Amino acid sequence: MLLHNIEELRDQRSEWKNLTVGLVPTMGALHEGHLSLIKKAKETCDKVVVSVFVNPIQFGPSEDFDKYPRTLDKDMELCEKEGVDIVFAPTPETMYGKGNRLSNDTLTYVCPPFFYVNKLCGKTRIGHFDGVCTVVLKLFNIVQPDYAFFGQKDAQQVVIIKKMVNDLNVPVEIVQCPIVREESGLALSSRNKYLSEEGKKDALVLSKILNNIKSCYKHGITDIKALKETAYSFLGDKHELEYLEVLNKNTLEEQVKADDDSIALIACRVEGVRLIDNIYLCE
Ligand code: PAJ
Repeated sequence: MLLHNIEELRDQRSEWKNLTVGLVPTMGALHEGHLSLIKKAKETCDKVVVSVFVNPIQFGPSEDFDKYPRTLDKDMELCEKEGVDIVFAPTPETMYGKGNRLSNDTLTYVCPPFFYVNKLCGKTRIGHFDGVCTVVLKLFNIVQPDYAFFGQKDAQQVVIIKKMVNDLNVPVEIVQCPIVREESGLALSSRNKYLSEEGKKDALVLSKILNNIKSCYKHGITDIKALKETAYSFLGDKHELEYLEVLNKNTLEEQVKADDDSIALIACRVEGVRLIDNIYLCE
């Protein structure tokens, strides 16, 4: 069932009083990565809601909000196949009101702590995680799910959402799901659609760098500078590295040495497309 407005969603939700409800928040253009969250939600919950909303307030002024792929019909088909109960696809006006300037001058925003946003993607995507937390908390309040499903693909996002849920006592359990990759190793992403075939090959460098760091760690290298330096032999002039970090996977704190709680995270532009990936060094 496709719903666009909040009242309809609430009416439906009120009929599910004694059932467990799972929410999978997405921006649509669904692929196997999203479907893995939906499958996990179906396994865990009686009813599953998938939200499809390209959230304007998490995009910076020079980012790809306008050209972000919007494929609602295809998304609906995929959701129906997976047995999703409701696809909730609101408009920006439904979420943020008519005529509001979309900024924290006029709207209440949720701002995660500086420590969590002042690194990795937050360093270049100013305000991005304010936009993510704001929309996710709104979706939690609208859908009132028992469980919500997020991918490790966006590792900083899921750490920040867990922190928000904890700090604001939101009554929802966050379930983190592993990264789904193409056979080649490329992590699935809606933004892969922007890449040419050649670009997709060049993009393999992200997972290669991460796998290599993990393998070096397994061979006993724990010095983080040394681990990061292993990346340089993979990078060519087609790759614009934005960051490569090894941090604590739960807190995103810097570490003296890598350990079994470390995560390696990378952001790199290929053909102008910003790609991210990460790997747990021990799993
Ligand atoms: P979107 O990029 O559509 O991703 C929706 C969810 O799918 C996120 O939790 C993301 O981590 C997960 N996902 C994406 N690619 C994946 C992959 N290859 N394997 C596993 N999971 C994957 O993330 C967002 O939307 C938005 O920021 C949102 C949370 C919906 C708020 O607007």
